[in-house]
Amino acid sequence: MALIDGFGREITYVRLSVTDRCDFRCVYCMSEDMQFLPRAQVLSLEEIYRIGRILVALGVTKIRLTGGEPLIRQNIVWLVTELAQLEGLKELTLTTNGSRLSQLAAPLKAAGLSRINISLDSLQTKRFKDITRTGDLADVLAGIQAAQDAGFKRIKLNTVIMRGYNEDEVLDLVNFVRQQQLDIAFIEEMPLGQIDDHTRQQTYMSSDELRAQISTVYPLHAVTDSTGGPARYYAMSDSLSRIGFISPHSHNFCGDCNRVRVTVEGRLLLCLGNEHSIDLKAVLRASPDDDKAVIEAIHAALAHKPERHYFDLANEPQIVRFMNMTGG
Ligand code: GTP
Ligand code: 5AD
Ligand code: SF4
Repeated sequence: MALIDGFGREITYVRLSVTDRCDFRCVYCMSEDMQFLPRAQVLSLEEIYRIGRILVALGVTKIRLTGGEPLIRQNIVWLVTELAQLEGLKELTLTTNGSRLSQLAAPLKAAGLSRINISLDSLQTKRFKDITRTGDLADVLAGIQAAQDAGFKRIKLNTVIMRGYNEDEVLDLVNFVRQQQLDIAFIEEMPLGQIDDHTRQQTYMSSDELRAQISTVYPLHAVTDSTGGPARYYAMSDSLSRIGFISPHSHNFCGDCNRVRVTVEGRLLLCLGNEHSIDLKAVLRASPDDDKAVIEAIHAALAHKPERHYFDLANEPQIVRFMNMTGG
């Protein structure tokens, strides 16, 4: 039986987080002294695979592996190999900060990964360090190159533009994706988790502002094909690169929501911007040899998927959960 929520939306896309840990500490995602989950609370890779297998049997056609940083999880290539073989899965994708792609892009491609999105907020070495706190731009640029060399197509960069940090790099980033034949999505920052010294109301930049800036140099026309994600895409007349905007504040996309998330603690999270969730790990572990209870729990949870999120930058944080717990 297909996965339909209480508002008639069909769930075909699942984001599975494989770790809350990360080698970066991006200013909009984590606090500097972030505490991570004890290993005992984390799903095993076999459990994550089991959840993926059950969800695909229920009609999910796209899985995205997320983190934290998914490529720091040991044996991630094993998980990709197993999930990629699931009958009915059309796309197995991954969102990464790119720091380990130099080593892992080729094995991931061989394991059957379909597509990769890479976070990149600055092309300036010092600024990249300021935003990620611990990241190294050269590693990520090498990672992007490795992903291209491994044969990945339609690689998408994810960029959070923040006033006072990187708003002057919008055109540089567009020029970079044009040169490298990549896509890019500009994301409006979301108020998940309270981060000291970082007030999202002050750093907020709307997608319309960015689009206007880009349009002064490259006229943009809307394209209708979709990846099944939340971005609205635009094309330029003289390039194959697409420019996407993910606009949780200025252009709500919840009406078309087709996705749920599973955190690495095994919580089935029904909406990024709400707390509704169920403890799928408890159900999995209570019935290791029988999927029936798990399937029932998933169907029951879907009835509680909220209609939309109500992010309000003036009243942070509404969601105490940090993005690294959520997988974006
Ligand atoms: P594609 O498959 O390339 O379309 O990727 P995607 O946009 O689905 O996934 P990606 O991991 O690249 O996500 C980009 C951004 O979109 C992240 O910041 C996510 O948090 C955000 N995003 C994805 N789904 C949702 C959603 O349901 N609600 C909100 N508010 N943001 C979302
Ligand atoms: N708001 C918007 N996007 C965020 N990301 C992480 N934290 C936030 C936030 N608070 C993005 C990362 C990554 C994706 C998974 O989520 O940049 O590209
Ligand atoms: Fe790590 Fe991604 Fe969060 Fe940055 S946004 S700290 S790369 S999980």
